[in-house]
Amino acid sequence: MIKQESIQNLKSIIDITDVIGNYVQLKKQGSNFSGLCPFHSEKTPSFIVSPAKQIYHCFGCGASGDAIKFIMEIEKLSYPEAIEKLAGMFNFKLEYTSKNSFLNIDLLDKVNSFYESKLFIKKEALEYLKNRGLFESTIEKFALGYAPSSNEQFKFFKDAHLNFEDLKKLGVLNETGEYPRLIERITFPIFSQNGKIIAFGGRTISNHPAKYINFTNTSIFNKSKTFYGLNFAREHILRSKEIIIVEGYMDVIMLHQAGIENAVATLGTALTGEHLPILKKLNPKVTVAYDSDNAGINAALKASKLLYKEYFEGGVVLFNEGEDPADAVKNGENLDNIFKEKIPFSNFIINFTLKKYNLKNPIEKKDALNEIKSYIATLPDILKEDFANKAAQYLQTSPALLKTRVSMQNQNINLNKKTDIAEAGIIKTLYENPQIMNSVVEYLSPEMFKTHSNELSAVYAENFEDSRLLEIVLRDDIKTLDLASLKNQIRKILIPYYQNKILQIRLDPKINGDKKIHLLKDMNLKLQKIKKGEFVEGISSI
Ligand code: CTP
Ligand code: MN
Repeated sequence: MIKQESIQNLKSIIDITDVIGNYVQLKKQGSNFSGLCPFHSEKTPSFIVSPAKQIYHCFGCGASGDAIKFIMEIEKLSYPEAIEKLAGMFNFKLEYTSKNSFLNIDLLDKVNSFYESKLFIKKEALEYLKNRGLFESTIEKFALGYAPSSNEQFKFFKDAHLNFEDLKKLGVLNETGEYPRLIERITFPIFSQNGKIIAFGGRTISNHPAKYINFTNTSIFNKSKTFYGLNFAREHILRSKEIIIVEGYMDVIMLHQAGIENAVATLGTALTGEHLPILKKLNPKVTVAYDSDNAGINAALKASKLLYKEYFEGGVVLFNEGEDPADAVKNGENLDNIFKEKIPFSNFIINFTLKKYNLKNPIEKKDALNEIKSYIATLPDILKEDFANKAAQYLQTSPALLKTRVSMQNQNINLNKKTDIAEAGIIKTLYENPQIMNSVVEYLSPEMFKTHSNELSAVYAENFEDSRLLEIVLRDDIKTLDLASLKNQIRKILIPYYQNKILQIRLDPKINGDKKIHLLKDMNLKLQKIKKGEFVEGISSI
């Protein structure tokens, strides 16, 4: 492994403009550089590199990150590979942790054999799995087991002379080595793509509040880059050119048992950008088959947005209310039919985004339109047109309404949507001085902004890679404010906001006597304080 300090030292000597300059012709533009984005095809430059922030960002496709991320993306390298490449470019000698820390990962096979042997002794555990519909052959194929009490496990580790340091590093024991991570749980070994055990997950059979416990990330296991079941599914995916992504261990196992062997699961995490390189290598059509509850549908919406943007074909299948794929298999549903009724990603995104709004109400319809537009803005050019047409049809509105903004996105940043300089200045100041956020958030909430409430939410949520936010902070014409100007700008927003609120309350027939007086008093007090500048206290300088 490369030493962490060594990576830090490398980072401090590299300059992002030199790195990117090797791949993209950059032109100075204010304090930034711009050029044609290497990650999507374009004719006018929307790719910006900021030497001050050492980041790049593309206003066209939303690609962004630091020098390491750039090399990872453009050269299709892993993190350590990208570091090595960068070190080579700058003639920097990396230091590695010594070789004697060799980790014996075969220990996990031994631990698994032990867990497997315990399953056949622990009657309740075996019964539990059989009740859930698993055949014995399935239990064997997926090498399920049972982790017994802590004492029993320690006795085994000692008798088998397993190295405790390695057990800790591999995640079998907790960080301090005091107890095994999985105790009295059914165990699911998690395999690498080529079938090596790299971690475990465990399910309680006694209603423990944590239904599942998974290993935390280790040097050989990264949750967000692993698909459970991929070792078994790989060949089937390549042959059928299709993959099914589900939420849980049980879903994978039951689908495979039912003959649907191209199913894999993300491990208690959403599908993330980090999963995509694996998917891209397999290059299949993708079916998202999550649980039919709210959480599942929201996760499916997120996954669809990500997959569609990255050009994956496919769609989402929905199960009966409250059902997941494992239940569907156990309930003997007709899986062929369910998987046939796939909703294409674009339709699913449009449908489920718009579902939140009452489209008969013109104000809500406008909000719906805006939400769709901001997703369109993140799409690569080729997809924008198609998606906008579909959405327009659904909204029964002219595609032009969705597209004007779309085509503007392709042009230069300064021509982008209207910017409110006062709001933008506040946002940029908060972005650059996150330490003052806590004092400001109490007074200023995103709904008070007319134009940039999304961007304000993004700063508050510390989503510093949000593209709309970056569009503001990378602009030279928007200045960072000093404390006095910051307060002043906030006042200019708060005063009309509260004046308006007071008027609304006064005129609202639904609020009655006492309550009205109380509310008005409260609001007036706030307004007075704001006028006098008695807010955002506790910060003396920026
Ligand atoms: N999960 C987790 N921690 C939890 C709950 C879930 O890590 N406390 C992960 C597991 O990987 C699980 C997946 O999220 O497989 C899906 O969760 P859920 O749908 O609750 O699990 P099921 O597999 O449906 O659980 P069950 O055994 O009850 O069918
Ligand atoms: Mn489930």
